[in-house]
Amino acid sequence: MNKIATAEETILEIKDLKLWYKVYKGYSKVLDGVNLTVRKGEKVGIVGEAGCGKTTTVKSILGIIPEKQYLIPGGEIFYKGKDVLTMSEKQINEIRSGEISMIYQEPSAALNPVFTIGQQMMDVVRFSAQGKGKDKKERKKMVLQAIQDVFIPDPERIFHFYPNQLSGGMKQRICIAMAIMTQRDLMIADEPGTALDVTIQDQVHKTLNSLVEKRNMSLIMITHSLGVARELTDSINVMYAGNVVESAITSEVFKHTLHPYTKGLMEAVPRLAGGGIQSGIYGSIPDYLYPPRGCRFAPRCPRATKECTEKKPELIDVGDRHKAACFHI
Ligand SMILES: Nc1ncnc2c1ncn2[C@@H]1O[C@H](COP(=O)(O)OP(=O)(O)OP(=O)(O)O)[C@@H](O)[C@H]1O
Ligand SMILES: [Mg+2]
Repeated sequence: MNKIATAEETILEIKDLKLWYKVYKGYSKVLDGVNLTVRKGEKVGIVGEAGCGKTTTVKSILGIIPEKQYLIPGGEIFYKGKDVLTMSEKQINEIRSGEISMIYQEPSAALNPVFTIGQQMMDVVRFSAQGKGKDKKERKKMVLQAIQDVFIPDPERIFHFYPNQLSGGMKQRICIAMAIMTQRDLMIADEPGTALDVTIQDQVHKTLNSLVEKRNMSLIMITHSLGVARELTDSINVMYAGNVVESAITSEVFKHTLHPYTKGLMEAVPRLAGGGIQSGIYGSIPDYLYPPRGCRFAPRCPRATKECTEKKPELIDVGDRHKAACFHI
């Protein structure tokens, strides 16, 4: 069922978010006005090539980039109607511990090697709203149930394991278990399964998908792959060099692709029937220290004109909740 049609309540709205990293040579102007909406119960994909700012976007929602490293020259991030960028540390902590959970891109980095899986998961419960007032036995029951929910057999044994005793796929599933252990309204999954082989990746995606649906959570799913997004999301945001360049209901992105970058991404997928990659996209993401003045995709775009190199195209609504940022659509 298409969640967009049924759920109108917006849970997260990012408006024109700009984020610059402070680097040795000046400011690396990574996010250039990101717009993104997540509705209640909706599964939203963010798709784009490496370095286009996907992780930066979701990290800014939770305020987890160290303060000294960046500057936000403009934009707003409304979570349930309140701008997280103006919240106190205490308010953001409440959101982190009770409202939004995040599965990080790299599971090994998210788990502490010197504590057992059980110790780490018990801590997550202890500091969550659901764990408050529960005794140790009840909290352990929650942990074992979460391990079981991600289809890992023998949770009691895994509880006493250290991270290095688990395979990559198991670690990733433990990270998912940690993220779903307590009831949250929004789950952010940053390429869950990138480092895994395809069969395990598929299992991880399916596990995540069914849990999110069962609990009626909203999901932001980051992926390099349009194929993964097609299977798992209700709507897709295509990002290029710090901008959302196209946004639509998932089926619409494939049926009526508008932006030249999205078209390039589609053509970069090898055909199963043979013939290899059709054409793809030449070149690479721009240098964020000196980004192009107009459309950031213009230097790589087959349709670019003089206007594109001078003016930035806004993300405009072209109907049916389909938006694109291009002068030539
Ligand atoms: N702390 C930081 N300081 C300076 N630059 C950073 C920092 N973190 C990320 N960047 C840069 O910001 C850009 C966007 O990075 P980000 O991790 O958001 O991309 P991504 O789309 O998630 O890429 P990937 O698909 O490889 O995970 C990259 O050029 C990256 O090098
Ligand atoms: Mg990333």
